[in-house]
Amino acid sequence: LLGEVDAVVVNSKDDLEKFRIKYISRKGILNDLFDEFKTVANEQKRAVGQELNKLKNLAEQKLRDFTEALEQSAGDSKASGIDLTLPVAPNFAGSIHPLTLTRQRVLEIFARMGFNHEDGPEVETDWYNFTALNFPEDHPAREMQDTFFVEKKAVQKDDVLLRTHTSNVQVRLMEHKKPPIRSLMIGRVYRNEAISARAHCQFHQIEGLYVDKKVSFKDLKDTLYHFAKEMFDKDTKIRLRPSYFPFTEPSAEIDISCFICKGSGCNICKHSGWVEIAGSGMVDPNVLENSGIDSEEYTGFAFGMGIERITMLRYGVKDLRLFFENDVRFLRQFEGA
Ligand code: PHE
Repeated sequence: LLGEVDAVVVNSKDDLEKFRIKYISRKGILNDLFDEFKTVANEQKRAVGQELNKLKNLAEQKLRDFTEALEQSAGDSKASGIDLTLPVAPNFAGSIHPLTLTRQRVLEIFARMGFNHEDGPEVETDWYNFTALNFPEDHPAREMQDTFFVEKKAVQKDDVLLRTHTSNVQVRLMEHKKPPIRSLMIGRVYRNEAISARAHCQFHQIEGLYVDKKVSFKDLKDTLYHFAKEMFDKDTKIRLRPSYFPFTEPSAEIDISCFICKGSGCNICKHSGWVEIAGSGMVDPNVLENSGIDSEEYTGFAFGMGIERITMLRYGVKDLRLFFENDVRFLRQFEGA
């Protein structure tokens, strides 16, 4: 028994308690042995008593040593600031970027109106970005101050540039597809602008194009009105202001009633009650012809809007640069959005 007790190793409070119960408690082995001791013959009492006391001392010493060792190791992990009994801290597993959230929502709203999703290149030729869209030769957007040009190979006669808007995909799409066309074109665009809280050299646009027989200006208005109500607030109104784009005629700037202050005046709408969200218009017949579509038979409307701008309105973001910095303190705020 002495050997057995000596060999015991205890690693936890549970083991320690088992050890105590087995050897030292009132119903333990030691107590039983001391009971039996009464029946030991007188001449053997001395020798047996000594052995029994050795066993008792060893068991009690072991109990004290193990208790101390366990307390010590618990103290160590507390002193190092680690409490192994606590649940682990939740881990940030990432979140969807706010621009992606807006993009998904816009796609969803237009998908229900029958719009599909088309893609086009970011590195583009002058033809698709400007000429086919009816930009005159001397339009200021064709200047280096406004557009990033890419070095072209000697064999290329057309200038190569980073697209300045998603309208470049309109012509590419109409070249390959015959009407009816109802598509959204989404992606990154580039302009040679100084970076500030309100402008960036890269941003994202959503372009819409609807071409069919008898598409009218009323269709444009109804579509964007429905979009504004779905995207912002069911009471949102829209307002169209005459504008000019080379590739649409007539053209209109689309404003929405300020869904934040509801007309009572705030910083977002600069107390006007309206915020601009898109450019739009009826596709210019020249653009249809440049894409091989008969402008006598078909008409269409197009619109384009900035994803950053809509996202800023939606979430009250005041600085455009936040979208490109990937600061997790910013991104984390959209967890679960
Ligand atoms: N491409 C225009 C812009 O970037 C927006 C637009 C698209 C206007 C389609 C009319 C029709 O400002």
